[in-house]
Amino acid sequence: MTIEATARAHPNMALVKYWGKRDEQLMLPSTGSLSMTLDEFPTTTTVRLRTDGGPDVLELNGVVAGGDAAARVTRFLDLVRERAGSEARAIVRSRNEVPTGAGLASSASGFAALATAASAVYELPQDTTSRSRLARRGSGSACRSIIDRMAVWHAGTDDESSYAERIDAPELAMVVVVLDSGRKKVSSREAMRLTAATSPFAAAWRESTARTLEDMLAACREGDVTRIGELAEVNALRMHAVIQSTSPSVRYLSGRSLDVFDGIESLRADGIGVWGTADAGPNVVAITRPADAAAVAEALTSHGEVRVVRPGPGARLLEDPA
Ligand code: PMV
Repeated sequence: MTIEATARAHPNMALVKYWGKRDEQLMLPSTGSLSMTLDEFPTTTTVRLRTDGGPDVLELNGVVAGGDAAARVTRFLDLVRERAGSEARAIVRSRNEVPTGAGLASSASGFAALATAASAVYELPQDTTSRSRLARRGSGSACRSIIDRMAVWHAGTDDESSYAERIDAPELAMVVVVLDSGRKKVSSREAMRLTAATSPFAAAWRESTARTLEDMLAACREGDVTRIGELAEVNALRMHAVIQSTSPSVRYLSGRSLDVFDGIESLRADGIGVWGTADAGPNVVAITRPADAAAVAEALTSHGEVRVVRPGPGARLLEDPA
């Protein structure tokens, strides 16, 4: 029996956003979504089975974590143990190179790495689809970080049918503009609940996103970068609009985020193909063609720290963790 495994996964940036669940228990989303897995900001996670009968322990960036983060990992491991018919507790050591909780999806890389390492040590099926379904139970968007490059998450109707899968798409680059690496005020879980419970626009968001996903899949198939960018920007701004329409209102974008969107718009007016997106935080990500990435990064550097990212690998085991 393997007693330790290490896996690495990267965050993903959605071009069609996941925002809302139809089943919180099973983590089934109300609509499908589509994303690019990044080649930067990895999470590396080691799961070691305990033989001394002690409890689960989560160590994040070298510090033992308690509270919500540890409880979430234990709940996830409980599901793994139930499936594996095991009682063994584990020590989970995780190292993040992405600012935790700042809307750069550290939970996606975190649960994708954890699902991959845990599947190995608890001897669960390790094929991509099984790991994607399992990662989804930790954090919805984590199911997409199992996949390399570009992924569509099929919303599905039950545990079996809700998973992410690789799709072909034209070459893209993204420029991440980090404005704030602090933890966000309202978790995406809380804000999704609030959206479903209080926004008068929630149904319109679901319907328009389902249509946008179809259009985005067609644009990816056709290799139409302009269409991909336009659809992604509108979808992101619609997500922020539905989030702001909750009561009480939740606002993730700051004035500085809007300045970056303005900067992107003026680059577009100058003839550069670039579009904006943002997750549940203030940081803005510019979507562009690889050939334009350096110029876009240069133009946006006055707003904050910029990082050019490209399509990256799916979650995988490290044979020889350094
Ligand atoms: O998987 P969660 O609970 O971190 O939710 C992610 C939600 C967004 O990042 C805002 C959108 C997305 O599709 O990744």
